Order: sequence, then structure tokens, then C-alpha cells
Amino acid sequence: MEEKLETVKKMLEKHGQEHLLTFYDRLSQEKQNQLLDEILTTDFKQIEELYEETKEKPNFEDVKLEPIAYLEKAKLPKKQLDKLTALGEDAIRHGKLAIVTMAGGQGTRLGHPGPKGTFDLGLSSHKSIFEILCDGIKRASEKYNVTIPWYLMTSDANNDETINFFEKNNYFGYPKSAVSFFKQGKLPMLDINGKILLDENGMIMQAADGHGGIFEAMRKNGIFYQMKEQGIEWVYIGGVDNVLAKMVDPVLTGLAIDEKTLIAGKSVVKANPQEKVGVFCKKDGKPSVIEYSEISKELAEARDENGELLYGESHILCNQFNLEILEKISTNRLPYHVAFKKASYLDANGNLVKPSEPNAYKFEAFLFDAFSMVDDMSILRVKREEEFAPVKNAEGVDSPETARELYKKFHNIENL
Ligand code: UTP
Repeated sequence: MEEKLETVKKMLEKHGQEHLLTFYDRLSQEKQNQLLDEILTTDFKQIEELYEETKEKPNFEDVKLEPIAYLEKAKLPKKQLDKLTALGEDAIRHGKLAIVTMAGGQGTRLGHPGPKGTFDLGLSSHKSIFEILCDGIKRASEKYNVTIPWYLMTSDANNDETINFFEKNNYFGYPKSAVSFFKQGKLPMLDINGKILLDENGMIMQAADGHGGIFEAMRKNGIFYQMKEQGIEWVYIGGVDNVLAKMVDPVLTGLAIDEKTLIAGKSVVKANPQEKVGVFCKKDGKPSVIEYSEISKELAEARDENGELLYGESHILCNQFNLEILEKISTNRLPYHVAFKKASYLDANGNLVKPSEPNAYKFEAFLFDAFSMVDDMSILRVKREEEFAPVKNAEGVDSPETARELYKKFHNIENL
């Protein structure tokens, strides 16, 4: 242990992070060991690079933006719809589709004290978001007479609670053997001077590395291998917080098969040019998503000859990947985006500081940055009222209230 401590001290000195051991003596032996291990496995060079990047101003000017082609599900000629449905249904019935739900986020905006999926949507049944999602998978499994494997990506912060919730609820009646959990990666949070923050327990403050961490997490947890063993070819990957997500959609799967694309994504029409959503586009010829903060007013408002927004295909985090491309993506590192957040931390005197203003840099990879690894992806425009009811904020837009209403309307549930 002494030797290990000396190695860690030298490492920290080299990187100007000596403060991480300030409260070392107050920790139990187990925690001391854990802290040393965490420090030893921290990539300080990467942390330094990430900190330097926080000082750079994003430059979107050199990027060539173009609208992306899409198909509108509701307007497909019957013959084409039938063809895509048949292609997709065949793959699904033969057990080639798996579902991954990304549930590693912190859900800070919602403010629910637990994993977002455990949130009670407020229906008279008191179903949690996890149960609502599971209902959809159960319906599809019955329809296609196949047990669809369901993977859930959790984070260090919510993994145990998530698994306990599934256990307590008997996996909502879905076969336990078909449900798997894996944890995403994490990265330290930094103060404005690039120093790693200590959490209330005197340990390194770590945060989940964004939904783009999914690719690496799948590889590190052996998920690709498991999926191959099961004969999976297509993987639907979606967020946990859309209670109308149609995760098993033969038209989406059929479209990718028909267009021979390795990634397919669903879009809904942007409600208005100012709506705060990312939209599908092509950046330098590659499929991509441009965030609302990155797009100029002029482009956001531009319309085609039919009066439709040129950049109007909102990305709703409902995408499907071929297993082959997932593996390829996982061997590349996606860029990290920086967010400035409020995070309680231990100061130099060991006092817990609860800041009222943002004080900490958090680094996150975004799933859609992986789209540029293919030349083309298929986009399927679906109806908002049928497939998109996000639970993001505690109240107002995209809140439990709006999601509940959309859910009830779609499922035709009255007076609940
Ligand atoms: P959001 O970007 O909405 O983040 O995630 P969030 O953590 O749920 O909520 P806020 O921003 O803190 O309020 C979209 C989806 O991606 C997942 C979330 O669980 C959600 O399903 N996600 C996000 C992860 O799985 N891991 C992450 O690190 C971030």
C-alpha cells in the first residue's frame, strides 16, 4: 500500500492534482484503496486535453451543411410500405433484433430522486417509465412470437438501484433471462482551473460519459460478443425517457435492409424553427445532427419549395444500428462535448460546498457523432403524436404532464 501511495503521489504531482489526497487519511482502508485505484486508472493526459478544449470556442463556420434525405412513413405508397414491413418483420421474427435502452443519464432536469426509468408517470396504474417501455417490448414479442433481448445501459450512479427496481417488480413480467444491464464509462469533473473535484465522500467526482459512451461500454462489457452468439444483426438504441418510443418497428428495420444502410434513425418534424431540438443533416457530406445552438437563424428558418423546413427532421434518439457498424464505431473515440454544471464538492478545508451557480466541467460524448462514420443513413419520418412523448423537465414542455397526455391519447385511455 505504501508503495502504491508513493506512485500515486508522484503521478499527482506530475499533473498538478495533489489535492486529491487531501482527505486520504480520513478514509477507511477500503476507500483509500479505491481512491488510489481510481487515480491510477485515470488518464490525466486526456483530462488535461479536455480541460484545454474548454477554452476553445466552437467553430461551425468551415462545415458544409446540407439537408438530409428522408422517407415519410405516413406517405409511403402501400406497395413500398408492405415491402419494408415484410423485410423488417422477417428479421424480427428470426430473432435478429435487440433493444438497448440508454438509462445512464442523471435526469437533472426532471429532478426525480432515482433512475429516470423508475419515475411513476402518473397514470392510474402507477406504471413506471421502465414498465411502460417494457409493455411495448412485450407487445412486440407476442406479435412476432420471439423474445427480444433487452439491454439497459446504466451508470455507476444508478446501476444498483435500476437492477433492484427490476428485481422488485419481477421484470414487469418479461423473462429475466432476456434482460441484461451494463454500465457506461465515467469521467472526472473539473473545476474552472482544471482541478479534479472531490465529491462529498472525498473520492474523485465522476460523471457518466454521455450517451455516446454506449459504443465503448458495449465493447468493454462483451455485449457485441453476446449479441453475435444470439444471432443479432440489428440493434435499436434509444433513450429511456420517451414513453411513446416504438422500439420494434419493422418499417425502420426493413428500410435499413432495403436501402442497405448500416444506421437508420427516426425523425419527427420540428414543431417550429425555434424548437430546441437537434436536427438531422449532412455535415461535410456525412450524416449528422446539428444542435439548435449550432444552427443559424437563417438556416433554421429556410424552407424548400413545398414550404417544409429544410432542416426540419428532429433527432429523437430512436436509432437502429447494424451490429457490424456498432463494433466499428466502438473502436473509435468520439469527441467529448463540455457542459458547465452545478456540482456539490469538498473544498480544501473539507467543507461541502453546494454552489448556486455552475462550477464544474462535465464531459460527454454524443451518440449522434457516430453517424459520420457511415456515408449514408436512412431516415424515417414518423408522427410525433405516435412516437414521441419525452419526459425531460419537471414541468412545462416535455414534462410528465405533457408525456402523460400524449401517452393517454395514443393508447386511447380516457379519464385516467
Ligand atoms: P439527456 O441528454 O436528456 O440527459 O439524455 P439526462 O441525463 O436524461 O437528463 P438531464 O439532461 O440531466 O436533465 C437522453 C438519454 O440518454 C441517456 C439518458 O438516460 C436518456 O435516456 N444518457 C444520457 C445516458 O444513458 N448516459 C449519459 O451519460 C447521458
